[in-house]
Amino acid sequence: MTTSAHPALEARGITKRFASVTASDGIDFDVRRGEIHGLIGENGAGKSTLMNIFYGMLAPDAGTVLVDGEPVVFHNCADAMRAGIGMVFQHYLLVERFTVAQNVLLGKEPARGPLVDAKVASRTVAVLARQYGFSVDPSSVVETLGVGARQQVELLRVLSRAPGIVILDEPTAALSPSEADGLFEIMGRLRASGCAVIFITHKLKEVTRVCDRITVLRRGRICGTVQRARADTDALAALMVGDLPSVELAHAPAPKAQLVLDVVDVHVAGSHASAGLRGLSLRANAGEIVGVAGVEGNGQLELAEAIFGLRPVTSGCITVDGHDITHATVPERRRQRIRFIPPDRQGEGLLLDFDAIENAQIGDQDTSRFGLLDNASARRKAVRIASDFAIPHYDEASPLRSYSGGMQQKFLVGRETSDVPRLLVAFAPTRGVDIGAAKSIYARLREMQARGACVILFSYDLDEIRRLSDRIIVFHSGQIAGELAPDQADDTTLGRMMSGAHV
Ligand SMILES: Nc1ncnc2c1ncn2[C@@H]1O[C@H](COP(=O)(O)OP(=O)(O)O)[C@@H](O)[C@H]1O
Ligand SMILES: [Mg+2]
Repeated sequence: MTTSAHPALEARGITKRFASVTASDGIDFDVRRGEIHGLIGENGAGKSTLMNIFYGMLAPDAGTVLVDGEPVVFHNCADAMRAGIGMVFQHYLLVERFTVAQNVLLGKEPARGPLVDAKVASRTVAVLARQYGFSVDPSSVVETLGVGARQQVELLRVLSRAPGIVILDEPTAALSPSEADGLFEIMGRLRASGCAVIFITHKLKEVTRVCDRITVLRRGRICGTVQRARADTDALAALMVGDLPSVELAHAPAPKAQLVLDVVDVHVAGSHASAGLRGLSLRANAGEIVGVAGVEGNGQLELAEAIFGLRPVTSGCITVDGHDITHATVPERRRQRIRFIPPDRQGEGLLLDFDAIENAQIGDQDTSRFGLLDNASARRKAVRIASDFAIPHYDEASPLRSYSGGMQQKFLVGRETSDVPRLLVAFAPTRGVDIGAAKSIYARLREMQARGACVILFSYDLDEIRRLSDRIIVFHSGQIAGELAPDQADDTTLGRMMSGAHV
């Protein structure tokens, strides 16, 4: 087995569109040697599209495929095969009248003249079949075989080229349970021999049984990757259809901490009864959700607004990805992919007397050419938000005022996350919305996290904070009173820290 620092096969930022459908939307995915990586998702999630890109049958619109860490461009499946990739399709492409051996060696027979040497072929295939523990007889004629055996033929055909990377697109769809067991044993042998295996299915039990890692794809996007040990089928099911994933399922651990937000000794004047910020420091990484808890008026709003540029910093400094943004304008921060879900959607977030298209454009104005707003792209964005968040009776021409509060909030969250932010400041993102809307907002925050965003979640709802955060920071009187892991953050401990009683 080769142990390489690089994955055997990797997708980076792969995007593929078919007319109005984005089948792959900025996908990052990889598989290592000696690993079975399960890919699950509902019909139409984009699983086959990604595999067809890996196998050279489709060209991506954007993004890169890498083999052993090297970028590759495949023009057809022969290119992919040469790079060591083999793929078993859902529909087998076998010649009915040929024997198993002839089918396996089709196109590369140990031929004497145009005719296949049946004996040599049979022997070659028998050796291969034994090696992987296949039960199929190389001399049988394919038309006499059942589905399980036909699949073995297809698999043997792929394996006869000794690929180091094997893609199985829904191989168990037509198999009986015992045939599927046989396939899992073969997959286990492939893994043991150092192959990288991608296994696609929509049967949850199968992935939790045979895969080392499991990735969930939904509507062309990755919503999370889990180690098998941490996967449970209910949580995976929820993730597949877009419900709130359970805590176990939170996310793939970020490979290495990448500092995004660095707040150093910041002072901000307070307003009304608020303390402002009095020398507050805070760091947050890509791919994490940092929850900020505290009694209202202890500096939370000041920090959120200072990060987004809505409130001046009197001393100290804020950097994002190493760039000093302490005194940057809001458009400059937006260009750095800093996004804000403000606490008062009717005040700063949305223009309720304007329609969805106009609202979709807020924040984009300064990126449009010559100051003209690009209506077509705003319309696409609005439609996409409405469909992502299942906004019923969406009508692009109605003022947002005509939607419920929950719908308005979903629209706002959708707009601020329509491209993956680098830094997302979410302030009480579910305050006053119904459970359904809250769930979809949670799922979206999780998704942004899984896709590498650094999320700062300010909330007065302690359950929400515990449920979503990787770590919890407690504010008191414009400073940090302490930090807790979500499982340490019981009401009593949090309450003590929030009231400043905690040392
Ligand atoms: N060749 C194509 N032309 C147009 N749309 C396609 C094509 N292939 C896939 N799609 C669309 O892309 C989406 C993802 O499809 P697919 O990758 O086959 O999903 P899955 O394998 O997860 O069921 C679907 O909406 C599908 O209709
Ligand atoms: Mg498919």
